[in-house]
Amino acid sequence: MKVLVATEKPFAKVAVDGIRKEVEAAGMELALLEKYTEKQQLLAAVADADALIIRSDKVDAEVLAAARNLKIVVRAGAGYDNVDLEAATAAGVCVMNTPGQNSNAVAELVFGLLVFAVRNFYNGTSGTELKGKKLGIHAYGNVGRNVARVAKGFGMDIYAYDAFCPAEAMEKDGVKALSSAKELYATCDVVSLHIPATAETKQSINEALLADMPKGAVLVNTARKEVIDEPGLVRFMEARPDVKYVTDIMPGNHDEMMEKFAGRYFSTPKKMGAQTAEANINAGIAAARQIVGFLLNGDEKFRVNK
Ligand code: 3PG
Repeated sequence: MKVLVATEKPFAKVAVDGIRKEVEAAGMELALLEKYTEKQQLLAAVADADALIIRSDKVDAEVLAAARNLKIVVRAGAGYDNVDLEAATAAGVCVMNTPGQNSNAVAELVFGLLVFAVRNFYNGTSGTELKGKKLGIHAYGNVGRNVARVAKGFGMDIYAYDAFCPAEAMEKDGVKALSSAKELYATCDVVSLHIPATAETKQSINEALLADMPKGAVLVNTARKEVIDEPGLVRFMEARPDVKYVTDIMPGNHDEMMEKFAGRYFSTPKKMGAQTAEANINAGIAAARQIVGFLLNGDEKFRVNK
């Protein structure tokens, strides 16, 4: 059995070593395709793979068709919007993610971006502090919970809105549960996005939702660029010279944002949230173990397609 790790943005070496150990201990072979630049390279590499470990790498119907032996794809991470689930199901391929394994890394980056933003991108002028400010966590999943934990250390007043998570689960963490996204944005000085990119959430962060944010508000996005209505965000920031947007996922309109909002907009050049040795080890090894469990024992825990 051959397990292919196909990562356009590679894991830390120590994580690859850990994955190799798991795979070889199960009597399987590991193949690596890192930093590939053409889809063709992925199509060629998957041809004889029985299992595939990916990150944000796109697995569409064409990739699945080229992978004639493929039985399982594990997205080493949380969001699986990069995998065509229907095509995978049609091809008889199991798709899994590794929930929670990289969430602390993403949560820590939220605060890296926030401190950078409220200190005016370290330009030498007086900024503000996070202590005592109202933090709104939009979606209370694994990353949201870690953000709440770190926010307590900063002395923030923590709120959250999640359409699916019960209020009691938030309240027991000392987080005030709000009943709508509208209320979250109207209440909080800082909103941190943790919603997945789905048909319902794409472009859902729009001008109407953002309009009521308090003076000096900061929106931080370590989730997905697709959830932002980019023209709406531009209109909001044009109307509100007091607000800032910091993101770990470069928007489609990055050049326009740079030009119009210098000093209150920042994007990392490449998504860095999960890019730590620890997160790579946690997610990579979990992915390898899930593959071994599935191929040897039929274990389907963490399966996300039908
Ligand atoms: C995730 O969904 O797990 C994060 O967005 C991390 O993505 P990455 O593995 O491409 O860094």
